[in-house]
Amino acid sequence: MRAIVTGGAGFIGSHLVDRLINEGWEVLVVDNLASGHLDNLKSAREFGKVKVHTLDILDRDLAEVFGRFRADRVFHLAAQASVSTSMTDPMFDARVNVLGTISVLEASRKSGVGRVVFASSGGALAGPGSAIPTKETQKARPISPYGVAKLAASEYLAMYERTYGLDHVVIAPANVYGPRQRAHAEGGVVAIFVETLMAGRAATIFGDGSQTRDFVYVADVADAFYRAAFTKNVGRTYNVGTGTETTISNLYALIAQATGGPAKPIFEAAKPGDIERSALDASAAVRGLDWAPWTAVVEGIAETVRHYRKG
Ligand SMILES: NC(=O)c1ccc[n+]([C@@H]2O[C@H](COP(=O)([O-])OP(=O)(O)OC[C@H]3O[C@@H](n4cnc5c(N)ncnc54)[C@H](O)[C@@H]3O)[C@@H](O)[C@H]2O)c1
Repeated sequence: MRAIVTGGAGFIGSHLVDRLINEGWEVLVVDNLASGHLDNLKSAREFGKVKVHTLDILDRDLAEVFGRFRADRVFHLAAQASVSTSMTDPMFDARVNVLGTISVLEASRKSGVGRVVFASSGGALAGPGSAIPTKETQKARPISPYGVAKLAASEYLAMYERTYGLDHVVIAPANVYGPRQRAHAEGGVVAIFVETLMAGRAATIFGDGSQTRDFVYVADVADAFYRAAFTKNVGRTYNVGTGTETTISNLYALIAQATGGPAKPIFEAAKPGDIERSALDASAAVRGLDWAPWTAVVEGIAETVRHYRKG
């Protein structure tokens, strides 16, 4: 099987490339390296057939690049992935996340791709007041341009399926964490805490620490994307999270324990736009993708700390 992974040099994308290579796929990564790094693909390039095309998904040549590779599946993860950047520059966010997705869909349609698997976001779509854990059926109430762009992109995917018969699956992860995450990214709190505490400094919690998030391990998320390539249950969105709320204070304590860093955080005022609680109900993914969040948070944190220690 042949796959194009847009954003394949990024945090989640590179773990998906690792998985595809382990399963014997040939992979073409399309990435402009805006936040991705070729280092992330080091082991995949050693062990399997991975080509990297450094290209913006908005580039005119995208359809030609897709046409030459003849992929069975496209995994579209390239994105402006920061909620705060979307607040300060909503036009840029829409250009990459909406127009970029249309560009990927056009290139996929023209080159006869069988299916597009798209990275949306569970947390950014559910707004304040959503039932917790949140199901896919919950009416989306995004409070950031990033959330609106992901919602719009999903509508384009559905339209391409209705109009052109291009299959799609939407994976909507919760807060993803694990090796290779950079501290600035969406849900990058684990990376920030690990890096800061490992350096022997206390990290900052914005708010009183009682706010909750659903932390899902990156290899489990890559597994959900992989399963989406084969499922018969297409044309759907699957939330991918643990369903468990972890408070930021609790996360801090877990990371302090795993790193041996300072046990007491610094507290600062909450950031505007931060939601109080977030967790996703992944029972649709359990049924439709035969997926489960295999990695407990304690194990995932330990693995992440091991990775950062190796440098
Ligand atoms: N990390 C999370 O917690 C999380 C949660 C929900 C959804 N997501 C989504 O998952 C996907 C991957 O996120 P990530 O955390 O790995 O972020 P990331 O920033 O590490 O990865 C994004 C990749 O896309 C590339 N890219 C950005 N703009 C591009 C463009 N115009 N053309 C080509 N490549 C471009 C970047 O260089 C990078 O390699 C994104 O779509 C993101 O919105 C992430």
